[in-house]
Order: sequence, then structure tokens, then C-alpha cells
Amino acid sequence: MYNFFGMNILVTGGAGFIGSRLADRLVEKKYNVTVVDNLFSGSRGNLKYIDKIQFLEGDIRDESIVNRCLKGQDAVIHLAAIISIPYSMIYPDETFDVNSVGTLKLLKEALKNNISRFIFISTCAVYGEARYLPIDEEHPLDPLSPYASSKLFGEYFCVRYSRLYKFPTLIYRVFNVYGPGQGYSDYSGVITKFINRVMNGAPPIIYGDGYQTRDFIYLDDIVDAVIMGIEYKQRRQQIFNIGSGRATSIIDLAKMILDLMDMKSLKPIHEEKRKGDIVHSHANIARVRIELGFEPKISLKEGLKRTIEEFRALKK
Ligand SMILES: NC(=O)c1ccc[n+]([C@@H]2O[C@H](COP(=O)([O-])OP(=O)(O)OC[C@H]3O[C@@H](n4cnc5c(N)ncnc54)[C@H](O)[C@@H]3O)[C@@H](O)[C@H]2O)c1
Repeated sequence: MYNFFGMNILVTGGAGFIGSRLADRLVEKKYNVTVVDNLFSGSRGNLKYIDKIQFLEGDIRDESIVNRCLKGQDAVIHLAAIISIPYSMIYPDETFDVNSVGTLKLLKEALKNNISRFIFISTCAVYGEARYLPIDEEHPLDPLSPYASSKLFGEYFCVRYSRLYKFPTLIYRVFNVYGPGQGYSDYSGVITKFINRVMNGAPPIIYGDGYQTRDFIYLDDIVDAVIMGIEYKQRRQQIFNIGSGRATSIIDLAKMILDLMDMKSLKPIHEEKRKGDIVHSHANIARVRIELGFEPKISLKEGLKRTIEEFRALKK
């Protein structure tokens, strides 16, 4: 019998958008949670249960920090990363250092500490432009940005460690995550940008014709997938796509947001297609469904409603 109750879990990047929601849910599920985060883009304020979490402010590239935070852990969920593609274009070396070398440093220490579960949160960006749809885990890898390449190197280290040392890692190739708590900046995802503009009475800006598609997955669904991974009984290296399994065009997304916000009078503006933007992205999630029993629960409409409500509450 497996007993997950009271397990010690390290969440790297646990002050960020996904990591903070995950860390809070783990606390609710009675896990002992440690967060390490250098607050590059995250904030302590994102964590509801900060008083119940051991919080270490530090950099995953710093071996003394990694050493400290891995002591006594049973599982590591590795989310700490520089996630902005435009930033990675300007600072490819720093991005590689954090996302690839940082992952290697964690793996090295995790192995020494007999960690039983290591989940690396990677990205669908490793696939590049879709050669067929929906994209399964065997799809060719062709990262188009320093960000995507750096995550692919992180994956590579996980796979090597699994093969060399029989240290089974799980790699999650996550599609477009959205939900409450996603920070707003020039680098934010399209949903946050659209909601923010519409809230200020401005129409959404669509790059290109808007028929490009994305696979949007709600924050709580990816948190569920991680928890299922922690509780997964198989001890073998696996790569899983984590998405909703549905394609949504950007033009339909804009219409849904305008509708839900009662702003149908605003008409989206079209600007020139951005260089490096992929056209279609849509996950085949058959593998994770079979292996982990993962099923996304929140529809796009429901997830957008919740996200809009949170934006409205914050504006008050
Ligand atoms: N948001 C998405 O749509 C999405 C999609 C696919 C994959 N991912 C992956 O999910 C993970 C979390 O993404 P997010 O959206 O929550 O981003 P985020 O920027 O909110 O979270 C990343 C966290 O990592 C921390 N961090 C950055 N560099 C660090 C370092 N050197 N040492 C310690 N902490 C550091 C940041 O301060 C931040 O809290 C990332 O690994 C990202 O690649 C996200």
C-alpha cells in the first residue's frame, strides 16, 4: 500500500502562477510543502498558505540552496524557470542557465537525496510548428525559441538521469495554462491580455487572421495532473502531454471573452502576424488519460468566467 499522506514535497518556482496554486493545493491535501523561489517573476503574496509552507528565497542555480532545500524531501516538482519567450530572445544565456543548468543541478542533488518522484514541468513549445494534429508525445521536436530549447535541454537531462541512474522522472509537456493569478505584463499569455484590454474598454489585439489555434488548459486541471503524478505508482520514466485536448482559435477565444464580459460591441483589431508564432497547437492527451487517469474538468467557458471574475474582484 502506498501512503502519500504527510509526504515532503519541494516545489521549485512555487511563488509563481502555477507553482503557488500547486503548493497551496498540496498544503490542503496535508503534504509538507517546501517552496524555493528567487522571486524573479513570482511573489510570496501568491501563496495563500505561506504560514504553512517552508519558504526558501533562493536561486536553483545556487548549489548551497539546492542542497538545503532537497534535504529530507520525498518528491520534487520542478517549475522554476524563465518562461518569457521575448525575454529568452534577449537573454538566451541566462535562460539556458536557469532552465537547463538549473534543472541539471536539481537532478544531481535529487539523486543524492533518494528522491522518489521528480516531475519536470516542460512545455509544448518543444514541438515547434505542428507537423500533424493533435500533437502526441512522439511528434518531432523542433523548438523555435531559446526558451523552448532550454526546456528541451532540461528534458534531456531528466531522460539521461532516468536511464543512467534508474532515477525515473516524469516530464509534463504543458500546453497553454490560464486562470486566476496569472500576472499581467507585456509577456503574459493571450487570455490575460485580452481580458485586461476589454476590462479597460479596448478591443483585443489579434496577430494575423486569428484562425491560429491553441490548447488552453485551466490552472486547476494542471494542478490535478501534478498531484496524480505524485501519486502515480509506476516507477518508470514517462513523458506526458498535459492539455485540454481541444483546439480553440484565437478569434473564437476573443469572441468568447467579449461575450462573457458583455462587451460584444468591441471588435477585435488585427495586427501583423508575429515572427516565431506557431500556427496550430492542440494536444493529444491519450497517454496521460490512460496512465494517470487524467481528465481535464474545467471547460474553457467556465475557466474564462472564473478568470474574469478574479480580474473584476482585483479591480474593485
Ligand atoms: N504558464 C504556461 O502557460 C506554461 C505553459 C507550459 C509550461 N509552463 C511551465 O510551467 C512552469 C511555471 O510557469 P508559470 O506560468 O507559473 O511561470 P511563473 O513565471 O509565474 O513561475 C516561474 C517561477 O520560477 C521562479 N524562478 C525563476 N527563475 C528562478 C531561479 N533561478 N531560481 C528559483 N526560482 C526561479 C520565478 O520567480 C517564478 O516564481 C515553468 O517551468 C514553465 O516553463 C508554463
